[in-house]
Amino acid sequence: MDLFEVIQHRSSIRSFTSEPVSEQEVTTLLEAAIKAPSAGNLQPWRFIVVRDPAFKHKLVDAALGQQFLTEAPVVIVVCADLSVYRTRYPERGVELYCIQDTAAAIENLMLAAVALGLGTCWMGAFDEDQAAQAMNLPKGIRPLAIIPVGHPTSPATARPRKPLQDVVHYESY
Ligand SMILES: Cc1cc2nc3c(=O)[nH]c(=O)nc-3n(C[C@H](O)[C@H](O)[C@H](O)COP(=O)(O)O)c2cc1C
Repeated sequence: MDLFEVIQHRSSIRSFTSEPVSEQEVTTLLEAAIKAPSAGNLQPWRFIVVRDPAFKHKLVDAALGQQFLTEAPVVIVVCADLSVYRTRYPERGVELYCIQDTAAAIENLMLAAVALGLGTCWMGAFDEDQAAQAMNLPKGIRPLAIIPVGHPTSPATARPRKPLQDVVHYESY
């Protein structure tokens, strides 16, 4: 699959088979994630790879009962280390760049998953304090996304997008 096919094939997957995801595959996803750009190349992303069902259940509780994440053989919690911005970008870094940097890493990870035949879903609806507690996060490590990873039970279905003419402006808004 070339890049454009990978982009076209990515869809949120919320149902997974029990087929395992290897350590090598997880490493490939994480290597893709850390190739993302980041403000000042500060690379705030931190990843927690979760395979233990007990921890997955804690994440379900944090994620407002989104049970499907327990089906995924691997769940990756993507966090940002806010302390990296302390000396450079203390304001925009903590408020904005941490989100942009980690979002870029997440998208890389999700596209790499498609290239490996895996499915993912970006989960952002969760209680941050509860997720932080579940993952034993130190202060200053902010959980930003929970990404279940596994083999889809059925092929991804493309969800509609607004047409370009509705979202693109030229020269000024
Ligand atoms: C920031 C963000 C938060 C999201 N949170 C959730 C979530 O908590 N649960 C979920 O099932 N999907 C979540 N999604 C997935 C979106 O629902 C999905 O991307 C959107 O409906 C478009 O569908 P597609 O990914 O299949 O193209 C989230 C996506 C983003 C980017």
